[in-house]
Amino acid sequence: MEVIIRPSTDEAAELVAKIVADELRKNPHIVLGLATGRTMERVYEELVRMHREGGLDFFLCRAFNLDEYVGLAPDDPNSYRYYMNKHLFSKVNIDLRNTHLPNGMASDLNNECEEYEKLIQRAGGIDLQLLGIGRSGHIGFNEPLSALKSRTRVELLSPQTIQQNACFFEDISKMPRCAITMGVATILDCRRCILLATGEEKAEIIAKAVEGPITSMISATALQIHPRCTVIVDELAASKLQGCDYYRWVFMNDPEWGPYR
Ligand code: F6R
Repeated sequence: MEVIIRPSTDEAAELVAKIVADELRKNPHIVLGLATGRTMERVYEELVRMHREGGLDFFLCRAFNLDEYVGLAPDDPNSYRYYMNKHLFSKVNIDLRNTHLPNGMASDLNNECEEYEKLIQRAGGIDLQLLGIGRSGHIGFNEPLSALKSRTRVELLSPQTIQQNACFFEDISKMPRCAITMGVATILDCRRCILLATGEEKAEIIAKAVEGPITSMISATALQIHPRCTVIVDELAASKLQGCDYYRWVFMNDPEWGPYR
């Protein structure tokens, strides 16, 4: 795992967008794993800007999202399909047929989860997975006690997550209680993971995720065993990390990061 600390929220999100853009240019057929949430909005804004101003080409890439609420139709403004269309898909030249989210309206949800796993496999696996982190420590919607070997499945949202996202719904009773999410093992199979966390409210959970023991109580800790995971944070989200000096030293000295310094 590497930790990169950027001075501001914008610079953290811009670095993530730059890495995505570079990987996309290197491999136009890339299979991207995408996340939703407030943190990612700035990343998508930047990718849209790169598309408009620099011709960043999404036409051949394929995309799989981490999760979708159970019971929300694609045209529901709170569904993750709606979010992705709004923030990215409708603003770049991605072929919508190459964009995938689990169908939270499927009549057989377990079958939907199995098919989603197969679809990812048939695409050759995910090359680059974007991740946010929830206050519960979830990646995707892998709530506390999610098995480290879990696969795409229906997950009951934790009280903390309901509290985190209820503000998007007219009232808390309207928020779905379940979601389909890629599992922890599905995420660990991705060739490269980038976790972005910004703001003070993420500081405590980021410290646990990066420097704490690996535990199914905090799914993000599983990323410590991923062979290629980069955690990108702003100063506020980094404020409770013990090893900042070392992380900054690695960033300044590892040749891989030369083009990004
Ligand atoms: C969203 C997802 C979640 C979010 C996390 C952080 O697809 O999988 O894990 O990344 O809940 O959300 P924000 O960015 O709104 O704090």
